[in-house]
Amino acid sequence: MDRDRLASLAAALGARKGGARQGLLAADESPGTIGKRFEAAGVACTPESRRAYREILLRSEALGAQISGVILHDETIRQTAADGESFVAAIARAGAIPGVKVDRGVTPLPGFPGESATEGLDGLAARLAEYRAMGARFAKWRAVIDVGMGAPSDHCLNANAQALARYAAHCHAADLVPIVEPEVLMDGDHDLAHCYAVSKRTLNRVFAELHEARVFLEGVVLKPNMVVPGLKNPRSAQPEETARATLRLLRTCVPVAVPTIAFLSGGQGEVEASANLDAINRLGPLPWAVTFSFGRALQESAQKTWAGKAENAAQAQRVFAHRARMNALAAAGRWEAAFETRA
Ligand code: 13P
Repeated sequence: MDRDRLASLAAALGARKGGARQGLLAADESPGTIGKRFEAAGVACTPESRRAYREILLRSEALGAQISGVILHDETIRQTAADGESFVAAIARAGAIPGVKVDRGVTPLPGFPGESATEGLDGLAARLAEYRAMGARFAKWRAVIDVGMGAPSDHCLNANAQALARYAAHCHAADLVPIVEPEVLMDGDHDLAHCYAVSKRTLNRVFAELHEARVFLEGVVLKPNMVVPGLKNPRSAQPEETARATLRLLRTCVPVAVPTIAFLSGGQGEVEASANLDAINRLGPLPWAVTFSFGRALQESAQKTWAGKAENAAQAQRVFAHRARMNALAAAGRWEAAFETRA
């Protein structure tokens, strides 16, 4: 393990660039998940349509400009652009860092209805070595925390936090930066205070387990949810309210040794996610780089614009680059709603 290299990589994923701050593109949706989004856009989901769509994103001008790193799926890290260049090589050539999702998805926790644990520790060391040899420099593991009647249980939080910590330690042993993602879901009708309370329990468990597993925090990127009300709660929160609660959470739970915090978007709208990220950064200066690692909130409009047609690819690329610019400004607290109309 080269600690200096891990620390500088974890910092580079949230580096300032120009008057903005870089962040990550999460393009690691499983075929099943992206299939649902393609279906909504009327696009058949095949290895080739997934490849063609990912080429639009990975050959965007935003890579290396606003996008510091890309999280790939196992399928994509093995694919190439139409001209034969591997996606890993295309990302690196653009000045961005390739990474890969290494968990194997969630499985229900018996006896705990609605709760799950993320699997994928079996054989992980060998898979990490393979990905590193393929050019990946960081990895991602997502734990899913459901909010419901009696959920999350301590059992669920312990199981997920321990798996995240064991994964993170394996990443460091393989010279990869782990993105540690404990996602408290937005599904449900809970309010903002409830999201805060569950997120606090979650992050406290995660950092306790990282400590127990002797994980080098300077070489970690945390990927948390923002503190927001559930999607079915009748009362939505303004960006300032979300920002204050989220920052209180981070200050309470996240050691300043962690260089970079990169939020998931989790079902927020594209502009909503940018406005919230901006509001958080406007409360700075902050002791961590606070940026984005969005999936849906970076891709939604681009995917709809593409709609499976090659002739829409260039316009989809422009739409994607716009979202990347908006989020890079938000990660520096310099986004304004008026910029949205000047695409
Ligand atoms: P969303 O931003 O769409 O939540 O995706 C981020 C991610 O990587 C989930 O694992």
